[in-house]
Order: sequence, then C-alpha cells, then structure tokens
Amino acid sequence: MTTKSIQAAVTGLHGEITVPGDKSISHRSIMFAGLCTSPVHITNFLHAQDCMSTVTCMKALGVDIVETTNGDMSVCGKGLHGLREATSVIDAGNSGTTLRLMMGILSGQKFLTTFTGDSSLSKRPMDRVIKPLAKMGAHIVGRRGNTLLPITVIPQTNKLIGLEYEMPMASAQVKSAILLAGLYAKGTTTITEPYPSRNHTEKMLSAFGADINSSGNNIKINPIQELTAPQHIEVPGDISSAAYWFVAGSIIKNSDILIKNVGINETRTGIIDVLKKMGANIEILNLRRTGGEPFADVRVKSAKLHGIDIKATIIPRLIDEIPVIVVAAILADGITTISGAQELRVKESDRIKTVYNEFSKLSTNITEKKDGFIIKGNGSLKYAECNSHNDHRIAMSLAIAGAAGSGINIDKAECVDISYPEFYKTLHNLTNK
Ligand code: S3P
Repeated sequence: MTTKSIQAAVTGLHGEITVPGDKSISHRSIMFAGLCTSPVHITNFLHAQDCMSTVTCMKALGVDIVETTNGDMSVCGKGLHGLREATSVIDAGNSGTTLRLMMGILSGQKFLTTFTGDSSLSKRPMDRVIKPLAKMGAHIVGRRGNTLLPITVIPQTNKLIGLEYEMPMASAQVKSAILLAGLYAKGTTTITEPYPSRNHTEKMLSAFGADINSSGNNIKINPIQELTAPQHIEVPGDISSAAYWFVAGSIIKNSDILIKNVGINETRTGIIDVLKKMGANIEILNLRRTGGEPFADVRVKSAKLHGIDIKATIIPRLIDEIPVIVVAAILADGITTISGAQELRVKESDRIKTVYNEFSKLSTNITEKKDGFIIKGNGSLKYAECNSHNDHRIAMSLAIAGAAGSGINIDKAECVDISYPEFYKTLHNLTNK
C-alpha cells in the first residue's frame, strides 16, 4: 500500500491536458462490441483497472480482444448468442459496472457463470439487479439472500420475458442490466426511473441498431436477433476525471487550465451546472460529437465560489463527483447542502461516511446527514494524514483538497488506478508549469 504526499499548489495550476477515456463508455464499448459479429475498433479506451475487469470478463466468455501498440482496442465479438461458458470463476475486481451489466447480458445465456470480486465489491448490494432480472425469468443466486458476491448466473432454459419496471432508485447500472436482458426477452421491456441517470447504454445500443427508445424518464427496448456494430467507437474523455480539474482550477488561486476532449453528455454535466451556480469560471469551447456523444474542450480559471443547495433531482447527473464538490464547498463562502444522495452509501466505500471522516480531519465544518452533507464554507483546509479507504474518488478528492489547502498525506493512494492511473502525474505537471 502506497502513501502519497501532496504539496500545496501555491502558484496555481496551469496548462493544457487531456483526461483519459470515459469509464462508463469504455465498459460498454467492450461489452456491446463483444455481442456483435463484425470487428470493432475502439480509440481512447480507458486503460484502468475497472475497464480491464470488463476486458477480462468478456475474454473469459470467448470474445477476442487485442490491444494495439497505441492502446486502441480491437474487438471481434461472438454475437448475441455466441458467448461461451467460462472455465473458471470470473473476477470483477472493484467494478460494479462490470458485474451488474454482465448479469443483464448473462441472464439470457444457456450456460453458467460465477462471479467474484474484491472486498469492496463483495459488500455492495446486487439484489437491486437480481430482483428485476428474476422477474424476467433469470435465475441468479448469491450470498446473503441473493444480495452479495459470490454470485452465480444459472443457465437459462426458457426465454426471458419482457418487464415493466419502476426503478426504486436512479441507477444507470440497474437500468442497463435490465435493458441488456431485454435484448434477449420475449416482448417489450419498459423502465421508469425516478430521475434520469446516465444514458450511455441507450445511446450506444441505439448506435448498435437495437430497438430502443427513450422519452422523459421512460425507456423501452424490444428484443433483437443480432446487433450491428459501428466499425469504430471513439471514447470521449471522462467528465468524472475532468471534475477534479474543474474544482481544482476553480478553488486554487491563479489557476488557468484547458482540459481537452471532455465528454459533456447532458446526463453527466451536473458538475458543471453546480460549479457555475457556485460562481465558477468555466467555459465550454469547440463543442463536437462522436458516435452520438457530445464532447468539448473546457477552460477553467480560478474564481471565488459561494455555497448552494444541491438537491435530489440533480444527484444522478453528478453522483461520482460529490466527494470533490465537498472540497469546493469547504472553500466556498456560506453554506452548501447536499440532499438526496443516499446512493453514495453503496459506492466503492460508504462515501457519506468516508467523506465525513476524512474531510473532517481537514476542516471542522462538515455535518453528515443520512442522505448527504451540510458544509459551512470556512475558506481553509488544514494539513492532515488521511486514508482513501481504497476508494479511488476519495483519494483524488483528498489530493485536490491537499493541493488547494496546506498539503496532505494520503494512505492507500494507489487506488486511483481504478479509474485514472495518470492522476498524480497530471496534478504534478499542472502544479509545476
Ligand atoms: C455507472 C453508474 C453509476 C456510477 C458508476 C458508473 C455506470 O452507478 O456511480 O461509477 O457506468 O453505469 P449507479 O448506476 O449505481 O448510480
């Protein structure tokens, strides 16, 4: 386990950077390409541990995936019905997206698959996916009443049946698992979400020729014989990774950063909306599109932020950015409240508890709520020895707090490899420009 020391960035952050490929889109590109029969070339794929869990999983199920010398991925899929049984247990590592989406794909297959994962994934609830899939006729068993890993998807003997499902929470992972099972089901599958969550599955399945339609909070999918792959998928830069620089560039005095090729899908841009409402100086430049996904260059300059109320409706559009929003709120003028974010309790760590415990070492003005936080901005962050609890988004948020404040020591710092292996190097480069 590595400890990382971050120094205060006293002269500001400067420079032009790119962020690695979007994690959600990278997972889906490998999975969906694996379900086609024509080859797909993927550029700007995220080479981080989470997405490599999906690569390992699809390879174990017979899909040919080759990494080219420049890091692109070349996938030769097996078709919707051509995956083959893995000969051993599949390790989904730390990746909830791998496990939950794969359960949707595998619930329509005629062979058995068993999953395991790391200690964090083994504590996360899987019944939110298993229950609706069971209603479609899938047979999935797991520890503690079909809730926890290890999980086995039993071979399917009858065809799945379409489902009308009102989701109890806004979750793109749950929605995607049901939609993927819907590809194999008899009849239409209809999902209603309480608030719209990220829609990369809908967009990409549509680009793969699926019979899928969205309207407001409703999504409908019909079964299909085969998907048809686009020859090329370009993954936009991950806005969840760019978010660290949006916040750092805003709160660290004398900063000016240009982040190139950032995905700005409307279901992910809650972080930009919130920071702008707090007074941030963020400009969207050079807007363009790749495979149905919009992306742009984003320029961030330092600004004085003020506290705001962040309510349930926007939470799914910024769920992974809340730890770093807390850093912005600590340095903002006035009070910031975050409500309706109870989903944070079932992420890679209980992010309400971890944020409260670790950020309270840096600032005394955070109150933990059942579904979020109250943060009294006090404009200062002390030096402290903190722990990431092996949660990549906590490690990166702590690092930004250290750079914006008085430095920090982070224990279990290497977990950034889950989504952003170059994170510390990028922070170092921006600090020393
Ligand atoms: C993801 C969806 C979100 C997010 C996760 C990635 C996805 O989880 O937190 O990092 O790729 O679908 P939930 O859908 O469970 O909210």
